[in-house]
Amino acid sequence: MCGIVGYIGYREAYPIIIKGLHRLEYRGYDSAGIALYDKGLKVYKKAGKVSDLENFVKGVSLAGTVGMGHTRWATHGAPSDRNSHPHSSSDRKLTIIHNGIIENYGVIKEALLAKGHIFKSDTDTEVLIHLVEDIQKETGLDLLEAVRITLNKVIGAYAIVIMNADEPDVLIAARKGSPMVIGVGKGEYFVASDATPIVEYTKNVIYLNDNEIAYIHRDELLIKNIDNTIQTPYIQELDMKLEALEKGGYDHFMLKEIYEQARSIRDCLRGRIYPSQGEVQLGGIKEYKEKLKNVDRIIIVACGTSWHAGLVGEYLIEEYARVPVEVEYASEFRYRNPIITQKDLVIAISQSGETADTMAALEIAKERGATIFGICNVVGSSIPRFTDAGVYTHAGPEIGVASTKAFTAQVTVLTLIAFYIAQQRGTITQSKLVEYLTELDEIPTLVERTLLCNDHVEKIAARFKDANNCLFLGRGSSFPVALEGALKLKEISYIHAEGYPAAEMKHGPIALIDDDLPVIFIATKNSSYEKVVSNIQEVKARGGHVIAIVSEGDTQVRDMAEYVIEIPQTDDAFVPLLATIPLQLLAYHIAVMRGCNVDQPRNLAKSVTVE
Ligand code: AGP
Repeated sequence: MCGIVGYIGYREAYPIIIKGLHRLEYRGYDSAGIALYDKGLKVYKKAGKVSDLENFVKGVSLAGTVGMGHTRWATHGAPSDRNSHPHSSSDRKLTIIHNGIIENYGVIKEALLAKGHIFKSDTDTEVLIHLVEDIQKETGLDLLEAVRITLNKVIGAYAIVIMNADEPDVLIAARKGSPMVIGVGKGEYFVASDATPIVEYTKNVIYLNDNEIAYIHRDELLIKNIDNTIQTPYIQELDMKLEALEKGGYDHFMLKEIYEQARSIRDCLRGRIYPSQGEVQLGGIKEYKEKLKNVDRIIIVACGTSWHAGLVGEYLIEEYARVPVEVEYASEFRYRNPIITQKDLVIAISQSGETADTMAALEIAKERGATIFGICNVVGSSIPRFTDAGVYTHAGPEIGVASTKAFTAQVTVLTLIAFYIAQQRGTITQSKLVEYLTELDEIPTLVERTLLCNDHVEKIAARFKDANNCLFLGRGSSFPVALEGALKLKEISYIHAEGYPAAEMKHGPIALIDDDLPVIFIATKNSSYEKVVSNIQEVKARGGHVIAIVSEGDTQVRDMAEYVIEIPQTDDAFVPLLATIPLQLLAYHIAVMRGCNVDQPRNLAKSVTVE
């Protein structure tokens, strides 16, 4: 949930670090800080955003070719100057930045307090660096060994970088449960939470593994395990492009990513569908064809928007592959002692591939014998590296905290998986597959047509931007779309919003209908159309304001609703891919009109790597 960046090499460190922190700010933005070595260790840190830190250090000498930086999402200790990272040892010779949670920090802190340590913050991170200092002083060991011993004593998740005033040509980095990438340049090294601060300098990266420590000297890189075994670094080449990280002329990353969805779905489909042959090819899971043919049950575990994608997947897999599917909040699944057998397939859906609850749910599934797959967007992240197999969404870097293109890419992958399993089990005829895949191949074009509704949606946003509550209703696979539309609105505009199955409205939510409540229906011409029309009439009869997502040319709902947003007609299977887009745009425009920080909404972070 925090962003960390480190640099050691021949260039000035500050510009690289501060730019890297901006790229990682989507991971957390409660406070920011940097440490540089230039004739001594210098630490500057401040509550607020990275830009507040930049203003804070204006006029200060920021020289030095080794340094590190941190942008925080608070876990232990409120957002404040004193709880900002980096944190230092008593003698101020050591300083640390940390992403994660040290679960046994309380016990460690008590022991250190008894030894006379004084703490300046409420954070678990400060305890960690004091423990390193304490062990180094007691044993006389070098810093690398003291860090290794320390990490054997802590319980929890960490991605840390440590600097030592007595060893200015070294960064020590380590990870367990939180992501860390090392960039290997010519005469320079980078370390960061993900590759976005690194990609413009080098494409050669090492994904540090759990329980590994990296000793990064100017001209030497040593990686060892906390059990002291030397590890051979495995250098991979990044396929990320720099322009994907820029806003590309849009006001916000979120709007850019909404508009990227025709391309991202096209990228997701590329090389995986052969409409004329009626064939789906998924190289990432092809070793498991037999398993998929005989699987008894599929359990999907995820959080947030990814959980909504899982719900769409349930409709698709049960409809086309006829395999029972259960969709679980990963945070609930991991603690309720679930019944799992070797016949189960557990699929984790995660854009970041780092969500702690989702990772923990997978670990339980693996322990209990299930086959585990991942549907992720970030290549090389923890979940794809942990699972037996999986399918990448190939949506490209998603910087906006509110997930948009990742959601439609996840739904696209789930559609492919549903058809792929149907293929293995023969639950769809070849001719029907030809028909479905031909339509699916058209979806990117239909997405481009759907995006034309933007100006119309902006007008509707102006009409309802001051609402305090909002209800989203849909049936079938449009119910999870209603949930997703509600989440988008609430997380970036701070308007309370709920998604509900349209039929459920009569069992309570209909009491909410009044002149102030916008009710948004997904009412496309699909299997449950007539039923949804009845629900719209029920809302109208009680004076509710109805906004409806309808199929192009619909006149019946058009004459009933206050506003309609038309999307291209498509098969039931693909409605979620199109119907979600106007809801993303509606949330976006309302949030902008309300002056909210669309890309970095309050209290949120892009990747929830703590539970
Ligand atoms: C989505 O808009 C939210 N930012 C959030 O719900 C997100 O989907 C959730 O935290 C899961 O993240 P993941 O897909 O990276 O696991």
